[in-house]
Amino acid sequence: MDYIKKLSRFIVPYKRYGYLNIFFNVLYALFSTLAMVSLMPMINVLFGETEKLTIKPVYKGIKELKSFGEDYLNYFVTTTNESDGPQQTLLYMIILIISLFLLKNIFNYLALFFITFLRNGVLKDLRDSIYNKVLTLPISYYSEKKKGDIIARISGDVNEVKNSLLAVLELIVKEPLTIVFAIVTMFTISMKLTIFVFLFIPVAGLIISRIGKSLKKKSNRVQTEQGVFLSTLEETLSGLKVIKGFNSEKRFNDKFQASTNRFYNFSNVLMNRQNLASPASEFLGIATIAALLWYGGSMVLIENSLSGGAFITYMALAYQILTPAKAISKASYKVKAGNAAADRVLEIIETPSLLEDKPNAKVKTDFTSDIKLNNISFKYENDLVLKNFTLQVPKGKSVALVGQSGSGKSTIANLVTRFYDVNEGSITIDGENIKDITKHSLRGLMGLVTQDSILFNDSIKNNLLLGKEDATDEEIIEALNIANAWEFVKDLPNGIDTNIGDSGGKLSGGQQQRLSIARAVLKNPPIMILDEATSALDTESERLVQDALENMMKNRTSIVIAHRLSTIQSADQIVVMQKGEIAEQGTHAELIAKNGVYKKLVDMQSFE
Ligand SMILES: Nc1ncnc2c1ncn2[C@@H]1O[C@H](COP(=O)(O)OP(=O)(O)OP(=O)(O)O)[C@@H](O)[C@H]1O
Ligand SMILES: [Mg+2]
Repeated sequence: MDYIKKLSRFIVPYKRYGYLNIFFNVLYALFSTLAMVSLMPMINVLFGETEKLTIKPVYKGIKELKSFGEDYLNYFVTTTNESDGPQQTLLYMIILIISLFLLKNIFNYLALFFITFLRNGVLKDLRDSIYNKVLTLPISYYSEKKKGDIIARISGDVNEVKNSLLAVLELIVKEPLTIVFAIVTMFTISMKLTIFVFLFIPVAGLIISRIGKSLKKKSNRVQTEQGVFLSTLEETLSGLKVIKGFNSEKRFNDKFQASTNRFYNFSNVLMNRQNLASPASEFLGIATIAALLWYGGSMVLIENSLSGGAFITYMALAYQILTPAKAISKASYKVKAGNAAADRVLEIIETPSLLEDKPNAKVKTDFTSDIKLNNISFKYENDLVLKNFTLQVPKGKSVALVGQSGSGKSTIANLVTRFYDVNEGSITIDGENIKDITKHSLRGLMGLVTQDSILFNDSIKNNLLLGKEDATDEEIIEALNIANAWEFVKDLPNGIDTNIGDSGGKLSGGQQQRLSIARAVLKNPPIMILDEATSALDTESERLVQDALENMMKNRTSIVIAHRLSTIQSADQIVVMQKGEIAEQGTHAELIAKNGVYKKLVDMQSFE
């Protein structure tokens, strides 16, 4: 029940399928009992045990329903026997049995038919929610979590939940009802025998629940391990070049196998636990039947208090209880496994987003005056990466950030785009704190070129369309021109429709960079944030990228993070950073004249 409550918001949209399933399961349970009961008159006909009744019985209300039914059947058998012979009667009985069994199975199918929509619907919605969450969670979340783990949850765990949903309904509706109907009928056949049977049930139940204990923990371990090896796979796929280049195949292979080995061991324990369920309950059931045979047999043989047909039907019903009892124990394992999986799925879905927009956040559509970083301090983990950092970027100006690796340049880009929030101080745009603006509108004002070109396995056109969804081919070509990329795109076999491979792998580093610049250009935002790649480009492509940057910075407000100082000589202001603080700032000429850190950096680069 707790489990259902946990998932309720995903189940509710499909609840009518749940009700339909329950409805047909009630019919199923009823008809499976009726089908068994219909064996009784057949056996009685076969062995001539039917009570002779030649007067048509009259209906005397619901209380007498059982005896009325029996009498009517006996009357029918007696008269048909007399008029058409026993073989004909047998045929009628067979038709009755077949029809009841047919109905039972039709209802079973219908119940499964409807629940399918609920199960697959919940599966789909869970996947959608995780994916949606993956998109909304802050970047910082992924420094902690492994990607493979998320993949495992969105594929494996969600499936586990789907499977358990059928089990849950079997557990709370179908099988218990089947048992209840069977037991009620058993009581009507023989009170004494049923009380005897009941002495065995608690014992069996106790043993079965013992087996089920600790299953949740075990299944959780299996799923977690799945996340581990999927993470390794994911990293391997994206790092193949390095793995091969460093001859590290064995190292990764060992890591992967260590995980699959643990998975192997955990799953063996888990599955064998599950495997035990069915044989154990079957044997317990048969033991009950054996006791029944002994006790009931004496009722038939010695006491003569039970007819042969009734006893056989009774046995069939008792066996009929076994199947659901088995199914219940199996289903309860599935539910336990599903419960563990649901916890893992919900953990992601319910992770609070630390960077949620304020409820009254403003939508900002234009940029009029400046961006300011007011005395900000920031740390990713324990150490301050930026300390009391202050910077103003007026509209229409370009500000370049330079400095050693690790001095906090990319961090500034992360903060201005609000991938992270500052710890102290504030960032304002036109005097408004960016925390008071919706993230969507804030980022709408900015074009972002990241340090590593992030491209998708799609055509050049589709990669660029991220910048502007409804761009025409002409606009795309113009953006490619500005970014100095048209020069190589035009020679590609399919032009802008050429697929560029995984992460743009079919292109050179410089080409990838120019494409990601073109993407930002196509967006044509008022503010550009550009993190120049460190990867060494040859002089030719360096010049091409540099031209692209200069084209892009024209008439725009831009924050450019540069490693190649030649790129930013024309910037309106150059900020030299050192360990998260400003060491110097000014124009190129001023800083050269100052003969400080910047001069040293420039000298070093020209020396190269
Ligand atoms: N996601 C992160 N989690 C924890 N620490 C981080 C994270 N990203 C960066 N850092 C740390 O923050 C500091 C500044 O990193 P940043 O990426 O801003 O440097 P950078 O100036 O861009 O360097 P580079 O020139 O090499 O790109 C570094 O010391 C780095 O170790
Ligand atoms: Mg950087």
